[in-house]
Amino acid sequence: MELNVIINQDCIEGMKNIDDNMIDLIIADPPYNLSKGGEWKWDNSVKLAGMGGNWNKVMENWDNMSLTEYFSFTIAWLTEAKRILKPTGSMWIFGTYHNIGIINVVCQLLNIEIINEIIWFKRNAFPNLAGRRLTASHETLLWCNKGCKKREYYFDYEYSKNGNFEYDTLKQPGKQMRTVWDIPNNKEKRELEFGKHPTQKPLRILKRIIQISSKEGDIVLSPFSGVGSECLAAKELGRNYIGFETDRHYAEIAKKRLEHAISNNQMSIFDSMSKGEKQ
Ligand SMILES: C[S@@+](CC[C@H](N)C(=O)[O-])C[C@H]1O[C@@H](n2cnc3c(N)ncnc32)[C@H](O)[C@@H]1O
Repeated sequence: MELNVIINQDCIEGMKNIDDNMIDLIIADPPYNLSKGGEWKWDNSVKLAGMGGNWNKVMENWDNMSLTEYFSFTIAWLTEAKRILKPTGSMWIFGTYHNIGIINVVCQLLNIEIINEIIWFKRNAFPNLAGRRLTASHETLLWCNKGCKKREYYFDYEYSKNGNFEYDTLKQPGKQMRTVWDIPNNKEKRELEFGKHPTQKPLRILKRIIQISSKEGDIVLSPFSGVGSECLAAKELGRNYIGFETDRHYAEIAKKRLEHAISNNQMSIFDSMSKGEKQ
């Protein structure tokens, strides 16, 4: 399987071309199944039956399945993901209350072990305009392993405890990392340079995940790569990547972002220069 590519293909089909136990880290940001009919537009104010809140109702076909379809879809991609994941590997899955319950149940059905559930607290969350419920200000992340009896998954405990997380008001220096992460959802200018995605993830949270659970040279798979944020974070940290994305427009943006990405070595030069400037 070729490495360091964004493939404009359905991930369930694409993963079938990857051998068993090949992948070190999977970061999955699947459709949240938030688009329930209506016009094609970006709209923060539309209410979802039974869900409410100011969710970014993206109104795209990839995000519009019935509950049964979503359940079958989740079983299909998680079955392939489990097969290709190394016993030493990890899988992280993003979700909200609209879909994370289904993903949790499917993980249990497939004997994928959930190591931790992380709450990603977004301190800059968009307010609830109607004032009819609380302001939604988090997403959920499931950290999983293949579910082998012997737990072999890689964990950089030292980084998680002593890494630099200055921006996170909840992480105390030198103390164990907890399961609530305070990471603003803002994107830097460079993250939006070639185009954006309605559910684009900031590089900061992806880099934290990658550093906690993989090593340089490892292979990171992003089954739902959107505009390629997971792959870009992997490249900037010296990991290999494979991304699948069905939407040609997003896949093209992802390819551009990755072509213009700077290597790990250049990143460390920048990092040390900016640390030097601060001192
Ligand atoms: C939640 S978004 C991911 C955004 C991504 N994290 C980023 O930062 O750009 C999910 C993406 O999965 C894509 N998608 C949906 N179903 C897919 C499938 N079966 N295989 C591959 N991509 C799919 C959608 O087109 C959408 O861009």
